[in-house]
Order: sequence, then C-alpha cells, then structure tokens
Amino acid sequence: MPTMADVARSAGVSVATVSHVLNDTRPVLPHTRQAVLDAIDELGYTPNTLARSLVTSRTRSIGLAVSAISNPYFTEILQGVEAAVLEHGYSLLIADPHDDPEHERKVVQLLHERRVDGLIVAPSAAPRALLDYLGRHAVPTVLLDRVIDDRADSAPPFDQVCAENTGPMARLVTHLAGLGHRRIGLVAGLPGLSTTGERISGYRQGLATAGLPLDDTLIAPGDSASSGAEQATAALLSLAAPPTALVTANNAMTIGALRTLRARGLSVPDDIALCCFDDFAWADLFSPRLTAIAQPSRELGAEAVRVLLERLASPDRPARTVRLPCTFAHRTSCGCPEEGCAGPAAARGPRAPRSARPRHPGQPENPERPEHPEHPEHPEKGTLS
Ligand code: HPA
Repeated sequence: MPTMADVARSAGVSVATVSHVLNDTRPVLPHTRQAVLDAIDELGYTPNTLARSLVTSRTRSIGLAVSAISNPYFTEILQGVEAAVLEHGYSLLIADPHDDPEHERKVVQLLHERRVDGLIVAPSAAPRALLDYLGRHAVPTVLLDRVIDDRADSAPPFDQVCAENTGPMARLVTHLAGLGHRRIGLVAGLPGLSTTGERISGYRQGLATAGLPLDDTLIAPGDSASSGAEQATAALLSLAAPPTALVTANNAMTIGALRTLRARGLSVPDDIALCCFDDFAWADLFSPRLTAIAQPSRELGAEAVRVLLERLASPDRPARTVRLPCTFAHRTSCGCPEEGCAGPAAARGPRAPRSARPRHPGQPENPERPEHPEHPEHPEKGTLS
C-alpha cells in the first residue's frame, strides 16, 4: 500500500506539501499541485481518512437522520443533502429513525459515536430525548422539516431549515373556497409534528380569509401516513354534513384519502374536490391531475447542509431558522377545468351545476355551494410563503 511518503518522494516534494494538496489547508503552486496529483494517480495512493481524522479531530462526514426515507419527499431531501455534501468534500452517513422517539435517540447516538462532524435531523413528534442528547453533547445540528418553536423571542436552540407551511395550506383552502366550497375537510397529520400544527393553522387561516366558519369536526387527525388518512377520510365522509372538498396534509395521506374515496365510489372532483399539500412526481399522472402544494424538497436538503457547514465554520453564531417557500401546482383535482389551470380568466367562468353532486349518502344536494363561484386569481405555478 503506497504511503504519503511514497507520494512525496515520487513528486519530489515534502510530505507536508502532499498533505496541503490533499486537505486544501494551504495554497500550493499549480505545477507542484499537479505533480502531487500525478504521483497519487500513478501510485494508486488512497488517503487514510481515519489517520487524518486522528490528527484533525474532524471526519469530514455528516450524519442524516430522517424518517420514512421511502417517502418521495424525504428521498428528494436526501438527494439534495447528498449532492451538497459531496460538493463540499464530505461523506454522508444515513439513518431512518422510523418516527420512533427511542429509535431516534439511539441512531443519533450511533452517528455521533462515529464522530460525524455534524447532524441533520428531522425530529419525531416526541423529540425530548433526542434534543436532550444533542444539547448535552453539543452536537452541531440542523433540525430539518420539523422544527421547534421559532416564534419565541429568544433564538431557537438549534439551526432549523423547513418549508413554509401556513401560507401554502391557507392558499389551498382559499382556492377551494373561491370555487364555492363551504365545507372543506382537512385530513391532518400526526399530532406533535410542527408541520401538522402549522398546516392546521394554515387551514384555519384560509377559512378566516375566505370568511368561512371554523367547524372542528372537519379537521380529522391522521397519522401522517396513508393508513391513518384512510380512516380520517372515512370519518369525514361519515359526518352528517360531509365536506364537499378535501385537503390532505401530505403526500402519503393523499394516497390514503384517494383509497377511501375510491372504496366509497366517489369520484374526484365531481363528487368531492381534492387539494393536496405535497407534490410528487406522479401527481400529474393521476386522473384528475392533482392540485398540490410543491415543497422545495431538494433545496431543503441542500440548504440544511449549507447551514450546517456555516455552523461548523462559526460555532458561536446564534442559531437561526430558515424557511423556504413552496409553489402552487394548479391542476384539476380541485375542480378547475384543464384550461382553467393556465390562468384566472378561463377558470372564472360560470360553472354548470353538477346533478350528481354531492353523492354522499344522506346529504342534500350541495346547498351551501353557489353555482357561480367567484374564482380568485391564481397562476398555474406561483411561489408562496
Ligand atoms: N413533513 C413535511 N412534508 C411531508 C412529510 C413530513 O413529515 N411527510 C410527507 N410530506
């Protein structure tokens, strides 16, 4: 196995120069640098990062712990993290805590024991043990997606990176209200997650903006997964006055809601309109195409890496929360005609009453829904905050 000394000898430089080329610790003249790189190539030298870590106390690795890596939202976050980490010469260790608080603390401890330089973590709904561990060991950490209160006067205890949730959810509600819906159901996420709380706030805010009363029975708690959403949707449909439109609070719950609607023989948007928080690659292939809020998932991952590297470079700067805007992917599951998605003019026209609506057993024909709704202006895709 060739050593650094072999490389130095072959390139005609000192071992220290080889080290500076490898670690970018000091500028090296271009021709000297090239001689070192050529020698490395010729000898097949591979740096021993463990030995380097013993000297620098840095492993140039980052740990990522996000639950449900199989969920496309988190998979895209992972892709954003991986690309950014590689770009900065770091490697990545990944764990999936499965949203289980005990498992979460355990995997974070394992990553920390591997001496990652910092962590990016999407905390579970009960993150006390995790946060205690991170605080006690002063692990440079960025909380991702699920944040802890950043409205307090003092700075949050950790850097945080997340998407806007409140405004975009309100946008879905006002969009449906603009189409004439008066009873809009929310298939909400797992209680305890900040994303769940903020999306419920957005739902309330949207109702208030549209001048609609809040009816708590229209908020059905799910578990942020497909199975919980199936039950939550069934509960909403079983109300004495069921909703004429649904909003789902994430991609997995959209799938669950669609499953229940299909089991009940309800068609979207004729029987019930649907708007989704969270876009995914095939939302556009559903029939009807799903109107959704698209989260900037890859950017969230890349931003988390940027904030973490900043933290490593300036350990004492105050913690901060970065929120990235979402976009509105206006399609047809909301009930807008295909051509309406191109802009407000086409969507604003009068809509013929649908004789089949609503088809929920026992519900009178859509008494609260005007036939000529005033449609709000909406671009097909617009940035929201
Ligand atoms: N947070 C935000 N968006 C999501 C989530 C989540 O936990 N799951 C699916 N989309």
